[in-house]
Amino acid sequence: MIRVLGIETSCDETAASVVALDGGSAPEILSPKILSNVVLSQIEEHAAFGGVVPEIAARAHVEALDGIVEAALADSSVSLDEVDAIAATAGPGLVGGLIVGLMTAKAIAAAANKPLIAINHLEGHALTARLTDGLDFPYLLLLVSGGHTQIVAVRGVGDYQRWATTIDDALGEAFDKTAKMLGLPYPGGPNVEKAAAKGDASRFAFPRPMKGSAQPDFSFSGLKTAVRQAATAIAPLSDQDVADICASFQAAVADALGDRVGRALARFRQEFPDQAKPALVVAGGVAANRTIKATLEALCAQTGFAFVAPPQKLCTDNAAMIAWAGIERLRAGIADENSADFVPRSRWPLDSVSAPMVGSGRRGAKA
Ligand code: KG4
Ligand code: ZN
Repeated sequence: MIRVLGIETSCDETAASVVALDGGSAPEILSPKILSNVVLSQIEEHAAFGGVVPEIAARAHVEALDGIVEAALADSSVSLDEVDAIAATAGPGLVGGLIVGLMTAKAIAAAANKPLIAINHLEGHALTARLTDGLDFPYLLLLVSGGHTQIVAVRGVGDYQRWATTIDDALGEAFDKTAKMLGLPYPGGPNVEKAAAKGDASRFAFPRPMKGSAQPDFSFSGLKTAVRQAATAIAPLSDQDVADICASFQAAVADALGDRVGRALARFRQEFPDQAKPALVVAGGVAANRTIKATLEALCAQTGFAFVAPPQKLCTDNAAMIAWAGIERLRAGIADENSADFVPRSRWPLDSVSAPMVGSGRRGAKA
């Protein structure tokens, strides 16, 4: 039995969790258990500012983290003595929050005489589908959150290849900025989706950024500009205008995303021809959007891919995915690669080989 305490503080959630893996008689069959999963969202503290304010986030983590870790241990009925390691997010993210989480984890690890495993937040997202669905490698991951928009080929633990990223805004950021422009409250994504449900998606012909391009990446800033121009042209906006803009924006996003992901699925087929039933996994807050989900599901059905969407609370930021990444690293024998002397990295690409790109691996840019 492996048990790991995970800690996550890279953005605006303070989270701790204990995850266990029973080695049992068939260690090749994953049967992990989330023994506790405590997430404290700071959304209300940031709402007035229309985005995450790094200084407020760091202070809130300081105030909450001790209690959240205690609650996660209490919920799991596992004592600190019984855990095998402490795993904490060490990047990418807002550096103030990362320092709070990683230093707390180091202190706990030192006091309890346990190993510390520094985890890349993106690796947490990338491996979640193995925690929830026991997925085998390789698979394709679409990560769409407020800070990231990436397609990653997940080939093994510690073996990731980024196939696409955004060249400007993250998709969640595009939703949030669109909401702000239209006077909808933060966080924008769910409110844009709600307004869109009453709107006419064909009223505005917004651009589908990168659609048809041979370059694999995403772009959303042109779409944002088109939304601003349309809104300015018909201001003042009625509720129906707002709904129509939201519906048209969402349709453009879904269409553009479908095009980009479609390319990646074709590449996956080419690179992994032996996979009988390849899988597309989605993660990140934007994956909650029903129009986007339906587009991706249809695409997977057409192309013979399994569509894997872990439960929403494990798709958004949480510490169970960090604890799980720690367990995966222990099992793979690479837990000491990033250990007690690791310092927080606000930028930390999952795939060190792909060229860095402005706008990728960026978090907290929402404010
Ligand atoms: O993964 P997440 O909870 O936090 C990080 O950014 O790491 O993602 C939050 C993002 C926000 O930009 C939010 O507006 C967006 O996900 N989001 C949505 C929806 N729910 C959340 N975007 C579109 N439609 C939604 N239903
Ligand atoms: Zn995240």
